[in-house]
Amino acid sequence: MKHIQFTFQTEYPQADTLILPVNSQGEIHPAVQNLSNQAALTTLIQQLHQSGDFLGKLASTLLLVQPTQIEMQRVLLVGMGDIEKLTVKGYLSTLNSAAKALDHSGATQVVSALIFSPPPSQQDLTWAIYHHSQVFQHSFYDYSHESRGEHSPKEPKVEHIIYPCHKQEQPAQQGQATAIGMALTQELANMPSNFCTPTFLAETAIELGKTYGYDIHILDREEMIEMGMGSFMAVAQGGDTPPKMICLSYRGGEKNQAPIALVGKGVTFDTGGISLKPGAAMDEMKYDMGGAATVLGVFKALGELKPNINVVGVIPATENMPSGNAIKPGDVVTSLSGQTIEILNTDAEGRLILCDALTYTQQTYQPSKIIDMATLTGACIIALGHHVSAILGNNQALVDSLIQAGETTYDRFWQMPLGEEWDEQLKSNFADMANIGGRAAGTITAAQFLARFIEDTDWAHLDIAGTAWVSGSKKGATGRPVAALVQYLLNDLKA
Ligand code: BES
Ligand code: MN
Ligand code: ZN
Repeated sequence: MKHIQFTFQTEYPQADTLILPVNSQGEIHPAVQNLSNQAALTTLIQQLHQSGDFLGKLASTLLLVQPTQIEMQRVLLVGMGDIEKLTVKGYLSTLNSAAKALDHSGATQVVSALIFSPPPSQQDLTWAIYHHSQVFQHSFYDYSHESRGEHSPKEPKVEHIIYPCHKQEQPAQQGQATAIGMALTQELANMPSNFCTPTFLAETAIELGKTYGYDIHILDREEMIEMGMGSFMAVAQGGDTPPKMICLSYRGGEKNQAPIALVGKGVTFDTGGISLKPGAAMDEMKYDMGGAATVLGVFKALGELKPNINVVGVIPATENMPSGNAIKPGDVVTSLSGQTIEILNTDAEGRLILCDALTYTQQTYQPSKIIDMATLTGACIIALGHHVSAILGNNQALVDSLIQAGETTYDRFWQMPLGEEWDEQLKSNFADMANIGGRAAGTITAAQFLARFIEDTDWAHLDIAGTAWVSGSKKGATGRPVAALVQYLLNDLKA
């Protein structure tokens, strides 16, 4: 992905394009001062407002090319609506429209005045620069796997964005690295499962390791059977595609400091297994490795940012297939932890692969905290829809920090409860536990299942079934929750 250059200059510098926020009264945003053509622009914008050519409606844009009496090749007007009523979501939508409007223009050197915080200003300029950089860098992403065929990939022209303010490199770099990480996450989740296999995910990790210099360790089927990962291997036995456990280790911090562990569900295709899913929209189950793709996207961003922290990533990757060799409802397996599981539904496979990954992560890395992320339950979409991921955990401070990071990056989480009452739903007459807990509270019982594999470690679980993907006309992966996790990890550095 081409990298935009971000710089800062307090005087309005020369550039070929100016991005200018305009309200629904036809006024330049009051925060914009000292433009070299301020008077001429003010008049022009008022005229456009009167003639009805530009009303400043929220997230509308108008690209003026060589406007008379203004020494500027291009001015992009971006509507802010009623500034008093501008929300965070509204502000982010103006950034997205601005990026889109420049996509098909000749703009290369851009000065942007679209950096201010919506009222009431809980946010600041740093926040705006983060989002501006993230959105513009991210606008370069275009699904480009060769299997797309004749599609001609996007050729972005914007090379340089100058912010008319004092130097703030950290948020610009974070925004950029986040966008680059998200692009990797999206590309992997968009790829069909005949290309994005567990082996391909492993190769992606190996590539990242080479590029950024972190350790990669891959376990294969034989080793994992040998080690006793009976639960993960039970899911993998239905498929001929080799499963992998992919381990990444980023060591930017003190040698003896315990790492934060990120564990991501990597089901490269979920048919449901013998508990076969219905056919409608089953193609979308190629994104059932969205958790794994998030881990890889975060590692990409870490490689770009090189913060002084230790992070490990662990990805159990497999297909979930029906076959003559597949697990059947009622089968009992022994997990790496020694606990036995009665598999009442082979479509509740995510927890079966994650539980062994969680045990392995604790045994191998003794992490200070574990955050797992998974497209785990359809119930999560029913409960929360597509705008927030579910978060559950055993440590409120950890959950709160993640929620906070999600608010800042607008990659939000909503907490659901855990407790003995829900745990009881996992009771089995034939093993230590069943892998499903009935129709009620499916997201909570799934997390309750995972909780049984956490020993003495602070842990949070993110159910991203509703947020990692959008259906409909914009069908595809979203790159969530990379932004929130990168923010959380960088906050941990400051703490
Ligand atoms: N990968 C699915 C969850 C899912 C569904 C993600 C829709 C994204 C969109 C998961 O493996 C699954 O099938 N879960 C079952 C659990 C049930 C059998 C207890 C579900 O949600 O139906
Ligand atoms: Mn499933
Ligand atoms: Zn699944």
